[in-house]
Amino acid sequence: MSLLHWEERYSVGVAAVDHEHRELIELINRLYAEATARESKDAIVNFFGDLFKAISSHFALEERLMRERGYDQFAQHKNDHERLLDELRDIMEDFEANAGVDEKLLARSLDAWFSRHFESHDARLHSLLRDH
Ligand SMILES: [Fe+2]
Ligand SMILES: [Fe+2]
Repeated sequence: MSLLHWEERYSVGVAAVDHEHRELIELINRLYAEATARESKDAIVNFFGDLFKAISSHFALEERLMRERGYDQFAQHKNDHERLLDELRDIMEDFEANAGVDEKLLARSLDAWFSRHFESHDARLHSLLRDH
């Protein structure tokens, strides 16, 4: 099943960025579907590894842009990126301790984080960059 669904409230108002975020969500869904189809603990552990990689590389791209442009809210934005990675780490540790993924919790955390982060930090960053 799909872990996440694109929501209108995720939109940052810049088509290219929305496209990239949609691709990130699709990638997460694909990785998750592959992992759950294999029904093994290793597959889920790998899924978390891949999830981290996919999200981290998206963040790295934004952080590079912010550094290059001398973005004024770089620290706050980067902190929010770190916060999601911390949350995911907690969910993964919980999985390793209990050998089960709380799928609803994982979906809810990602959804809550994406909607908040996309509509605040990413919307501000990308609308500023678009005007320059
Ligand atoms: Fe961001
Ligand atoms: Fe983003």
